[in-house]
Amino acid sequence: MRHLLLFGFSLLLSSAFAASPSSSPSNPPAKPFLWGVANSAFQVEGSPADSDSYHWTHTPGMIKDGSNADIATDFWNRYDEDFALAQGLGANAFRMSLAWERIEPQRGQWNEEAFEHYEQILLAMRARGLEPVVTIWHTTLPTWVAQGGGVLSPTFIKDYSDYATKVVERFAHGNTQVHYWLTVNEPTTYAESDYEDGGSSTGIAGSAGKFIKAIHQQADAHIAAYKKIHALPDSDDIQVGYAQDLEDFQAKNPWNPLDQMALFFTDLMYNKSFLDRVAFALPDSMPALDFLGVNYYNRNIVSFTVHGFVKTSPGTGPVSDTDQEVYPVGLERVLKKVASRYPVPILITENGVADSTDHLRPNFLRSHIHYLMKARDHDHIPVIGYMHWSLTDNFEWSYGLNIRYGLVEIDYANNLKRIPRPSYYVYKDLIQENR
Ligand code: FCB
Repeated sequence: MRHLLLFGFSLLLSSAFAASPSSSPSNPPAKPFLWGVANSAFQVEGSPADSDSYHWTHTPGMIKDGSNADIATDFWNRYDEDFALAQGLGANAFRMSLAWERIEPQRGQWNEEAFEHYEQILLAMRARGLEPVVTIWHTTLPTWVAQGGGVLSPTFIKDYSDYATKVVERFAHGNTQVHYWLTVNEPTTYAESDYEDGGSSTGIAGSAGKFIKAIHQQADAHIAAYKKIHALPDSDDIQVGYAQDLEDFQAKNPWNPLDQMALFFTDLMYNKSFLDRVAFALPDSMPALDFLGVNYYNRNIVSFTVHGFVKTSPGTGPVSDTDQEVYPVGLERVLKKVASRYPVPILITENGVADSTDHLRPNFLRSHIHYLMKARDHDHIPVIGYMHWSLTDNFEWSYGLNIRYGLVEIDYANNLKRIPRPSYYVYKDLIQENR
């Protein structure tokens, strides 16, 4: 999967070592710790608009279980039921995303109906005592963006940052008061799946060069959006971050220099390439980041191979339904590493497990939250919140609907009935104990 080609390394090295961290950490806002859940538009909303992902899900053979996201969990209509479930957990925050394809179906054409519907959703969220954390763009692109070349297009940075500024202008103040914004979700996973592996939903053949360009374009789009948003009037209470996927990579044989080299480059490519570009982007090497979103799922063991250069595989812990290793201490480890390099507050924007029978999730929650609290209270890492992925089961991209990440089961055969799993109550207790 994670094939790295040597020619990309020099490009990355130039961005990775261009500057050193700035010295003055931003202060975390003096607000209650955010306990919440996360989802994304395409994976839950249903009634999808015209996007690359919509067409991808309707291309035969793309989705393993043959399902699609046309209905998903019908969050578009049943959002308040889900907010009630989040409120029942004792949560005080909810991460959701906006579908770019609904809001701007053609360049520069703004869909007022979509704005109004999202406003209703955000107001309902607030009415349930949930602080919104809004992802501006979570994976799916309007068809006009995808057909223009997706993130590799020369117009992508302007197109994206215009859209981002528009939605922040609309929802940051007034009744909705959205303070926490995430520009981009998992830019490295996205660049890997859509631009390196060639499984692209935009139909672009993959390569390592495109992977690196996709990272840089997304980073520059984030930076452009960050600057434009902070140039808006009254932007002081707007916090702009993005969600970085971090894996705990470890060398298969720590004494083998080739495994160590493979580890070094894997970590650089996947955990640092995007971050380094945005973290030292402003004059005086200031970060173009008010906080960092961290998505943490698993550990991967890295070894050197002659053919692919790098091979990654799960370690010896239990594995999820998607073969990811459950490795709770890895959360503390990635937080320590990232906090020592990038001095900004950290929000856990995703952490969860594919587990249809809920046999792993209760302990997954207890152990990850244990290491999270240790990171905050013992290692003094400025963590400001934790969003579990996910409140309900949802459409898990190429796996389809059969992969289950929910604290709450969705009974797809029975009118999308929401049925809390035992882990729902475990998370509820953990929130209560740690608030
Ligand atoms: C992350 C994605 C999210 C979801 C989880 C399980 O990589 O950001 O949309 O699919 O994995």
